[in-house]
Amino acid sequence: SSYDNILVEIAGEKNNVGVIRLNRPKSLNALCNALFNDLSQALKSFEADNSIGAIVLTGSDKAFAAGADIKEMQNKEYADVLGGSFLSHWDCITQCTKPIIAAVNGFALGGGCEVAMMCDIIYAGDKAKFGQPEILLGTIPGAGGTQRLARAVGKSKAMEMCLTGVPINAQEALQFGLVSKVVPADQLVDETVKTASLIAANSKLITALCKEAINKGFELPLKEGCHLEKRLFHATFGTLDRKEGMDAFVEKRKASFKDK
Ligand code: HXC
Repeated sequence: SSYDNILVEIAGEKNNVGVIRLNRPKSLNALCNALFNDLSQALKSFEADNSIGAIVLTGSDKAFAAGADIKEMQNKEYADVLGGSFLSHWDCITQCTKPIIAAVNGFALGGGCEVAMMCDIIYAGDKAKFGQPEILLGTIPGAGGTQRLARAVGKSKAMEMCLTGVPINAQEALQFGLVSKVVPADQLVDETVKTASLIAANSKLITALCKEAINKGFELPLKEGCHLEKRLFHATFGTLDRKEGMDAFVEKRKASFKDK
């Protein structure tokens, strides 16, 4: 596979982790339309690949992504963005049923921070910077920055970040729960692939149900979230993998999931 704006590879000891690296170094991985078309294609092909159990999304050492492409937006008018439903195809990330882990080194600004937040887990390199600087450009976040960020770090911190445009560093991101781990920058991708491998070793069917339970539940009142969870839990009993997992425990052996 060859793309202009991303690099794609398979990783993990069992070759079951898909790695997508944003690769527009001259613009710090600014998220232009062509890059998102590549990303969307790559996600679709990992989604369809039965050997892939988890996906890692990363950038360069300097930038995960410095935001939507400002040069592409610069001359747009209201009718252009409204009529074309500008940037609606970014939804390709949240539509993926396989777990996606963002491995963020360097800048994750604007749309870059929003893309990281669309992923299921975020790991940060120790030099990472997360911010929503749209306010400095005379606009506001448009891909979840005011919504997912507030849910992730709380209202006060989200307000501070979105209203000042000042980014936070990796330690603050950890402290506020935006990321779940900070590792030395040069170990970030390896560490992320390790976690992705742990995920990919489990049943893909059950993993997809678990991801759905957390993501759907995130948007529901607790009672309805718990109801959905119970239904999905019950649904796991319709799979051979649930039986295999419990048999393996009782027989004191490692489970061998068949995604059935
Ligand atoms: C287009 C960008 C870019 C961007 C950087 N570049 N960010 N081009 N869109 N978002 C380009 C620069 O123009 C420059 O190109 C090259 O990348 C290197 O950037 P420098 O600014 O020279 O690097 P540096 O001095 O190291 O500063 C890094 C930086 C800065 C702090 C990250 O580039 C920056 O502030 N970028 C913009 C960040 C931002 O505002 N993001 C939010 C975008 S709005 P040349 O050709 O000069 O070498 C957004 C809205 C999302 O994301 C809405 C979603 C629906």
